[in-house]
Amino acid sequence: MRALRLLPLLALLPVAVLPALAAAADAADFASLLQERPGRFRPVRSTGGMVAGQEPRAAAVGAAMLAAGGNAVDAAVAASFAEAVTLPAAGNLGGGGFLLLWLPGPSPARGRGCLPSGPGAAGPELPIGGGQAVAIDYRESAPAAATADQFLRPDGTVDRQRATRSPLSAGVPGSVAGLVLAQRCYGHLPLARVIAPAIALAEQGVTVDPFLAESLADAATLLAADPGARRTFLRAVPGGSPRPLAAGEILRQPELAASLRRIARSGHQGFYGGPTAAALTALMRERGGRISAADLADYRARLVRPLQITFRGHPVLAPPLPAGGLSLLQLLKLVEPFGPLPGGASSAADLHPLAEAMALVFRDRNEHLGDLPQPEPVVRRLLDPTRLAELRRTIDPLRHRPSAELAAGQGRRSGGTNTTHLSVVDRHGGLVSSTTSLNLAYGNGISVPGAGFLLNNTMDDFSAAPGTANAFGLIQGEANAIAPGRRPLSSMSPTLVFRPDGTPWLATGSPGGSRILTIVTQVLRNRLVHGMNLAGAVASPRIHSQLWPDRLELEDGISPDTADLLQKRGHRIKAANAMGAAHSVEWLGKGRGSLGMADPRRSSGLAQPEPAGLRLRSGAPNPP
Ligand code: DON
Repeated sequence: MRALRLLPLLALLPVAVLPALAAAADAADFASLLQERPGRFRPVRSTGGMVAGQEPRAAAVGAAMLAAGGNAVDAAVAASFAEAVTLPAAGNLGGGGFLLLWLPGPSPARGRGCLPSGPGAAGPELPIGGGQAVAIDYRESAPAAATADQFLRPDGTVDRQRATRSPLSAGVPGSVAGLVLAQRCYGHLPLARVIAPAIALAEQGVTVDPFLAESLADAATLLAADPGARRTFLRAVPGGSPRPLAAGEILRQPELAASLRRIARSGHQGFYGGPTAAALTALMRERGGRISAADLADYRARLVRPLQITFRGHPVLAPPLPAGGLSLLQLLKLVEPFGPLPGGASSAADLHPLAEAMALVFRDRNEHLGDLPQPEPVVRRLLDPTRLAELRRTIDPLRHRPSAELAAGQGRRSGGTNTTHLSVVDRHGGLVSSTTSLNLAYGNGISVPGAGFLLNNTMDDFSAAPGTANAFGLIQGEANAIAPGRRPLSSMSPTLVFRPDGTPWLATGSPGGSRILTIVTQVLRNRLVHGMNLAGAVASPRIHSQLWPDRLELEDGISPDTADLLQKRGHRIKAANAMGAAHSVEWLGKGRGSLGMADPRRSSGLAQPEPAGLRLRSGAPNPP
C-alpha cells in the first residue's frame, strides 16, 4: 500500500533523491516500486502456448496453428515448413534433423498405424508424466552408392570442396519424411492445413528483412555459383555481377511453392516420388551426385525411443544416436555434482571443471560414436555411473589437462551458426523440440532445378578420413565412417526436461554444430544449478571446449577476470563469436500457461496464439 501511495510522487523526484529514498524505504518495497525483478532477463508468458524459434514469420505460422486448435506438433510442423521458405540458410526441405515430442494422454499414434502392434511389441514411445514421449530421427542418410573414400584425393587428403560444396556432399534428405511422419502420427490438423502457410509464403513472397539480407550477402559467392540459387536469391545487375536480395525486396520461390504443394497433396510420396524426386535425381545424374530414385524411395524417418537420464531429480530426454543426445546426457551426468559454488555461474571455479568435462565427452564422442548397428552397449558404457565417476575423478579442480595428454590427434574448429531450433509448447503442456539443418549455411548451395530447394552438405558430418577435421573441427573415427545407408553422427540434440514428478516442463535445443551439446548443458545448468529463470538461462554467456583444438572459447560477457583465472589454470583462451540460439519454452502447469525465451544472439521469433492486443513481448504476464 505504501508503495502505491508513493508511486505518483516518484516520477517528480530528482534522480539524486532516489538513493536517499531507497535507504529510507525498505529494500523490497523499493524494488517493487521500480518493478524490478531478480533476473536481468525475463521470459514472455502466454496462456495459449508458444512457439520459440529463429524466424518471426515462421514462429507466427506455428502460433496460428495453436490458435486454430492445433497441438504442439501441428505448430512445430507448420513452423518448420514455413522456415524452409523464410529462413533458407537453415530451414529446409533438402536437409534433416531430429525432433523430440511429448503429448499428454494416450498416444494418438497407435490408432494411426505408426507403432508396432502385437503383445509385447516394444515401441518407441516412452511413457512419462501421463503422456508419451518419442523422438523422430529424420537425419539424412548416405546414398547406396556412397563410399568411405568418396571425399579423398589420390594422395589420401580430404577434398574439402567435394565434401561441402559438391552434389556428393548431400545426403538423402530427411526433413519432409520427418515432418510428415510427425504430423501423421501425432498431429491434430490435416497435413494440407499446416503446409498451407508455407505455400503462401513461397508463392506470394516474403519481404527480405535485415537478418536475411545479411545472411544472403554473406553467402552471395556460394549462391551465385549455382544457376537455381542465383535465380532465387540474387538479382541480375545489367553489365555487372548479380547481387544478393537486399532488405525490403521480395523473395519469391514459386518452384519451392510447387514442391510444397505436392507434399500437401501426397504427403511423403509427394517428395520422395513424382516430379520432386525426378528433379533431384536428374540433378544428381547431370552433376555427378550419387542419390538415386531408389535412395529416395527407400528413405524413412524413424520413430525412436528417447534416451533418458535424471539430472538433479529432473528426467531429461534427448534423441539417441546418431543424434547428439548421448553426448549431451553424458556431459550432464558428468557435471551433475558440480556447483552451485559461491562464485556462481561464470566464475572460473564453476567453468573450469565444466570445460574439462566437455573435453572428456568429446574424447568419447570422437572415438566411439556414430550410427552404430548395436548402440546399446556403447550407451550403457558411456552413461555407466562407475565409469562417469572415474572420469570425474580425473578432473583436476585447479589445472587444465592438455588435450595431447587426453587423446591423440589434431584439429581446428570453425564456427557455423546455420542450423535452426524450434521449441513449442501448447495449452495442454504438449512439447516439441526440433533441430534441423542443411549443415552449413545454405548447405552445399545447390538448388534443385524445378523443385526450388537447397541441398544439404551433411555428408561432411561423417569422418571423411580418420584424424582429419570436418567443418566443425571434429576429428572422428571409424565408427562414423561413410557407408551406404548410414546416417552421419550429429551434435543436434533437441531436449525435453520434466519436473521431478514426471510432468512436462521445458523444451530447449540449439544450432551451433559441435557446440550444441555444450550450449544445451549450460542452459540446463543455468536453470537447474544456478537458479536462473528461463530467460537468464538462455541469455547468459557461454563457453565451449571440444578437446581439439586444445582451447577454451568464451563468449563476450564472461569477465576478463574470469578469463584470467581460467588461463592461470592452464586453459588457452579464445574470444568466440556468439554461440548458438537456444530458443526455449517452459510449461507452467494446467491453467497457468507457459513461458518462452527466444535467444537474443540471433534473429528470433517468439509467437503466441493470443489476439494481437494481448501479445506481449516485454515479459509482463498476460491478463488472466
Ligand atoms: O548435425 C550436426 O551436428 C551439424 N550438421 C549441425 C550443423 C550446425 O549446427 C550448423 N550451425 N550452427
